[in-house]
Amino acid sequence: MEQYKKKLIKDLIWLRSKINFDFIYEKDTFSNDDVIRYYKKTKYLLYRLTGSKNGEMHIGISDDGIHKKGVKYQEYHEEKLSEILKDNLEIKNVLELGCGQGANMAYLAKRHPNVKFTGIDLYPGLDKKNKKHDITLIQNDYHNLSMIEDNSIDMVYAIETLCYSQNKNQIFKEVNRVLKPNGFFIIYDAYLNKKRTELSEIEEIGAKLVENGYYLNEFEYIGNINQYIKNNDFEVVREENMKNKVISHLKHYQTRIQRYFNFGALLTLFCKIFPKEVLGNIVPVYFMADTIEMDLSVYMNHILKKKSKR
Ligand SMILES: C[S@@+](CC[C@H](N)C(=O)[O-])C[C@H]1O[C@@H](n2cnc3c(N)ncnc32)[C@H](O)[C@@H]1O
Repeated sequence: MEQYKKKLIKDLIWLRSKINFDFIYEKDTFSNDDVIRYYKKTKYLLYRLTGSKNGEMHIGISDDGIHKKGVKYQEYHEEKLSEILKDNLEIKNVLELGCGQGANMAYLAKRHPNVKFTGIDLYPGLDKKNKKHDITLIQNDYHNLSMIEDNSIDMVYAIETLCYSQNKNQIFKEVNRVLKPNGFFIIYDAYLNKKRTELSEIEEIGAKLVENGYYLNEFEYIGNINQYIKNNDFEVVREENMKNKVISHLKHYQTRIQRYFNFGALLTLFCKIFPKEVLGNIVPVYFMADTIEMDLSVYMNHILKKKSKR
C-alpha cells in the first residue's frame, strides 16, 4: 500500500512540475450551474477530441482488462445494457439518468428499435443523426423525476453520473417510484472505498484532486450504497468491483498524458488555447489510475431490481 501512496506523491510532483493546476481548488463546492458550464466547455474540446467520437463521456472497460490499440472500450457499458435488453424482451420503456450527449441511448436505440428511451440531464444533447430514434430528452435535475409516472419504466440506468449527487437516497426513492415491480436499476460509478473521516492526508489530497477536476462535490463512501438499496426496496442481482477491468485503461490515459506533456511546446500551446475546465480535467484523468490502484476509490457496477410487493 505504501508503494501506491509513494507513487501518488511522485505523480503529483511530476504533474505539478508540468502544469500549475492550483486553479482547480478555486471552488470548494459545485452547483448545478457549475456542472452545466463544465460539460458545455468540455463536451467537444475534451470528450470527443480525446475520447469517443460518438459522445460517450465515461471511461473505457474490458472484461479481459487489457488495453489494446484501436478498440472502442467506451462501448462496454452499452454492450452490457444491450445484452440485458436482449435477455428481457418485455423491457419497452427505458430511462437514462445523466444521459449527457445521448450516446448510450443512441447505441441502444439503434439495436433495439422497439424500445422507447428517455434521457434526463442538466444539459442533455443528442447528435442530429440520432434524432430519428425513439429518444426523448428531458432537461432537469434527476433528483426530481416528477414528470415520469409511477410504475411506468422497465429499466433505469445511470453511467458515471450519480457521483454528482449528494442525496442518492432521494434518487433511489424516485427510481423505485417510477420503476415497475421487478424493473432493473443499473449503475456504473466510482465511490470512495473508505469513510471520508478515515482518509489520511495524502488520500484526502488524491480524492479532492479527482473530485475538483470533475466539478463534483464529494464521492460517496461505497458502504452507504447498501443502505440506499435496503431503504428503497431493491434487491441486488449483481454487484461487481471492476478494478481489474478498468485499471489498464486508466493507466493508458495516464501514460498518454505523460507522453504529451513531455513535449514542452505542445503543453504551452495546450495551456494557451484550452479553457480551464478542459485543463483541469487532466488532473482527475491522470490520478484515477492511482486512486483506484491504491483502493482509495472503487469503480462499481450494480444491477438492482425493484422488489415486487407481496
Ligand atoms: C460523466 S458525464 C456522463 C454522461 C453519460 N452518462 C455518458 O455515459 O456519456 C455526467 C453527466 O451527469 C450529468 N449530471 C450531473 N449532475 C446531474 C443532475 N443533478 N441531474 C441531471 N444530470 C446531472 C452531467 O450534466 C453530465 O452530462
